[in-house]
Amino acid sequence: MANSSVIGMNEKLGQTYRSDAWWVEPVLTVLALGLFSIYAFWRAAQNNYYEWGPYLSPFYSPDLRALFPEMMRWVAFSPAFLVLWAPLGFRASCYFYRRAYYRSFFMDPPACAVGEAMPHNYQGEKGLPFVLSNLHRYFLYLAIILTLFHWTHVAHSFDFNGHFGVGTGSLVITLDALLLTLYVFSCHSWRHLVGGKLNCFSCSKFNQIRYKGWVRVSKLNENHMLWAWLSLASVGFADFYVYMVSSGVFHDVRFF
Ligand code: FES
Repeated sequence: MANSSVIGMNEKLGQTYRSDAWWVEPVLTVLALGLFSIYAFWRAAQNNYYEWGPYLSPFYSPDLRALFPEMMRWVAFSPAFLVLWAPLGFRASCYFYRRAYYRSFFMDPPACAVGEAMPHNYQGEKGLPFVLSNLHRYFLYLAIILTLFHWTHVAHSFDFNGHFGVGTGSLVITLDALLLTLYVFSCHSWRHLVGGKLNCFSCSKFNQIRYKGWVRVSKLNENHMLWAWLSLASVGFADFYVYMVSSGVFHDVRFF
């Protein structure tokens, strides 16, 4: 970083004393989140090619058509839209993603010590829609339920007509569930739930257990950004793999 990195109140967008490539991160973030959002919406609207053999696309999990067949007969649109609002709300209110889209999409500011797009009128997240970010802990509860569903799909992905088998799709779906689990359980709200609001870790047996859990979650939390990106990539790839196999473009290789 060159000279001073401090920028005043009347700077223009992008104005900075920084000499490093500060713009790379927001540009890559716009590309990654933008492309993922377009792909996910298109796949959800497609309402086709979301299952093959024992594999189910994570965009259609839980499988509402299997759980509520009678009720779903009356739903004229893709069941993915009945599901995706929960992971969307979870990720959109995630502390890491908030930082990412505030910088890259709103450029408010685009990076530390770089001129921002809008005047300084930040009032906190008090009005719609950003006040909804305060619901993050509730989206966490939903995300935990969804993660459990993902693991049921993992178990199902090894079941080939009643026989145990391992296909490429089984591995893809397992990896996706694993990365989602790491993302969900590295959440800041989860960390608070495990070890927060305590004045004394050693005062009772239960508090000592919570302390041990909090230490482990804190370790996981250190890489929350990494799990956020990897799980986003893996959920997209798992859906893409099921799409390719069910539409006949890929052949699912069976290991046994
Ligand atoms: S803070 Fe990122 S998922 Fe909770």
